[in-house]
Amino acid sequence: MTRKARAAVLWGTGEPWKVQEIDVDEPKRGEVLVRWKAAGLCHSDEHLVTGDMVPPPEALALMGLDSFFPIIGGHEGAGVVEAVGPEVHSVQVGDHVSASFVPSCGTCRYCTTGRGNLCDAGAGTLGGGMITDGTHRHFVDGQPVTLLAKLGTFAELTCVSEMSVIKVDDDLPLDCVSLVSCGVATGWGSATRRADVAPGDTVVVVGIGGIGMNAVQGARMAGAAKVIAVDPLEFKREKAMEFGATHTFASMDEAIPEVTEMTRGQMADKVIMTPGVMYGELMAQAQTLTGKGGTMVVTAVAPITQEDSSINLFNLAMFNKEVKGTIFGSLTPRNDIPRLLDMYRGGQLKLDELITQRYALEDINQGFADMQAGKNLRGVIVYD
Ligand SMILES: NC(=O)c1ccc[n+]([C@@H]2O[C@H](COP(=O)([O-])OP(=O)(O)OC[C@H]3O[C@@H](n4cnc5c(N)ncnc54)[C@H](O)[C@@H]3O)[C@@H](O)[C@H]2O)c1
Ligand SMILES: [Zn+2]
Ligand SMILES: [Zn+2]
Repeated sequence: MTRKARAAVLWGTGEPWKVQEIDVDEPKRGEVLVRWKAAGLCHSDEHLVTGDMVPPPEALALMGLDSFFPIIGGHEGAGVVEAVGPEVHSVQVGDHVSASFVPSCGTCRYCTTGRGNLCDAGAGTLGGGMITDGTHRHFVDGQPVTLLAKLGTFAELTCVSEMSVIKVDDDLPLDCVSLVSCGVATGWGSATRRADVAPGDTVVVVGIGGIGMNAVQGARMAGAAKVIAVDPLEFKREKAMEFGATHTFASMDEAIPEVTEMTRGQMADKVIMTPGVMYGELMAQAQTLTGKGGTMVVTAVAPITQEDSSINLFNLAMFNKEVKGTIFGSLTPRNDIPRLLDMYRGGQLKLDELITQRYALEDINQGFADMQAGKNLRGVIVYD
């Protein structure tokens, strides 16, 4: 049986999201149909529109693709399982699930060594068809359409691999669950896991959006003595104080002399980079903000073909500093998404406060305009 659903489809860089009807095929082996109830608007979706995260032609050729488009956006989401294909074991019809933009095969070298964010099945998430067998289940205007991160949460209904969903408790609000599936986990893990913030640390978070705000709350929960939030927007700086920041600055340039003063020249133990777009030249100031033996974590997504970065390698060596990348805050989705939700239930993790605005799917372009204008901590699409 083929089902109809509305979806926000992107047909090329620089285009608006187009809300239109898609056809969704039945789930095959290892696949589930999810009726999405909420989808967060993450800056990574916007990177498709700007082209920053669109693979160049040579990379597409390696994946056997002529074009990256059309694509259904959305990789933050939560919903309800509507149907399951054969040999699905971890969820059943009616279960509430969180999306996971990193799949979890459970058997690869990375899944079996506590590094679920690096699961080998993730190799298929920017490719064409399903992670399971490479064929298509979604069609628009009669042609196959791919899903961002093999999720496509900007659709009422999509068919995804069982590896891409995680069962969550039925009583949790699905808009909050959707945020944990990317932004909260990535930001929180960037601080607690990848930066390994320790009690008493001085931590700088640069860029206070849906990701950076959660790095702020992660740093606070990990016991940082100083949590310094940097963002040009006053609204973000004010909100950061509510999420656990101790100091705020409008720019790294403004922060550098102040952090020098407040740490008696020792500078930050950890600097976490979460601006909307990562540019190589931002690393010079990040390195100045990082003290001896300190760590810089790069979480934000840079333009995919950018090669240059302004790191002074002499200072990197002589001051024993380190630079680390992170995907999904280096967490393991199947373990950490339920744990984050437990912390929400326990009142330790703020989720409701992250949702600034709710949108209907039809208003998705307004939602991203609001994100770009810095009006939202997170905007969330809610389906009826
Ligand atoms: N590594 C991962 O696994 C992963 C996962 C999700 C998102 N991301 C990336 O994280 C980044 C942040 O995403 P988001 O959804 O929070 O974006 P957002 O648009 O909600 O927030 C970005 C914030 O950065 C601020 N900013 C921009 N330039 C700045 C600068 N030079 N200095 C200080 N602040 C600056 C903006 O004012 C804004 O408040 C994006 O690049 C996104 O693609 C990475
Ligand atoms: Zn995201
Ligand atoms: Zn795996």
